[in-house]
Amino acid sequence: MNTDSVLYEGKAKQLFPTDDPQVLRVVYKDSATAFNGEKKAELGGKGTLNNQISKLFFQLLTEHGVEHHFIKTISDYEQLVKKVSIIPLEVVVRNIAAGSLVKRVGLPEGTQLSHPVVEFYYKNDDLGDPLMNHDHIAMLELATPDQVGHMRQISLQVNDILQLYLEQKGLMLVDFKLEFGVDLSGRLLLADEISPDTCRFWDNTTGKKLDKDRFRQDLGNVLEAYQEIYQRLGGASHA
Ligand code: C5P
Repeated sequence: MNTDSVLYEGKAKQLFPTDDPQVLRVVYKDSATAFNGEKKAELGGKGTLNNQISKLFFQLLTEHGVEHHFIKTISDYEQLVKKVSIIPLEVVVRNIAAGSLVKRVGLPEGTQLSHPVVEFYYKNDDLGDPLMNHDHIAMLELATPDQVGHMRQISLQVNDILQLYLEQKGLMLVDFKLEFGVDLSGRLLLADEISPDTCRFWDNTTGKKLDKDRFRQDLGNVLEAYQEIYQRLGGASHA
């Protein structure tokens, strides 16, 4: 397996080619970043936890017929995925007001939304990932209207699946971010990761934040929160 040439290095992951041109190897890093890379830290063990948590979520989605890029984990911190061309949009689904929604519309944090809210953001670090409406997406030709419609539909389906599942684990799914790609045959696939880096999870009873907000807001015990999520999803305990 070719391990030399990194194809892409993101804030939390690296992508490497494999002997199969349709398959990539993803390495989950321990780096934590927030606020478009302004805040950084190394959290030993985060990569492993996110690799395993993502695997569990992708396996759950397989059971529900959602098509995605995940193939299998090959070590504590590596997984194989189908190669896709990433659509440069981040799709956020919100059930409860938090984060940038609170700042944008002024609802108090924790407000239950009457129905899920889907937002699209342009993946562009230089611009700080701005919110995009359908006309902006068409103007910049970031995705076809058909793809936008499918991304919205799949994201809402993922929301239903995850919300129900997490409810049984005593967790509220506050919001999350998805990314999509197109494979060589033109199929739209869910890609990237699903982890406490990309979702907000609150304990159902105490409201305790069990996600990257612990890092963003300096709440402490970041890794312990990720570990707690992993264990609630049925993962084994890590020393
Ligand atoms: O910051 P904001 O409230 O818009 O984030 C909404 C959701 O999307 C959160 O769960 C956050 O972790 C996730 N997100 C992400 N990557 C980004 C921006 C947001 O995973 N670049």
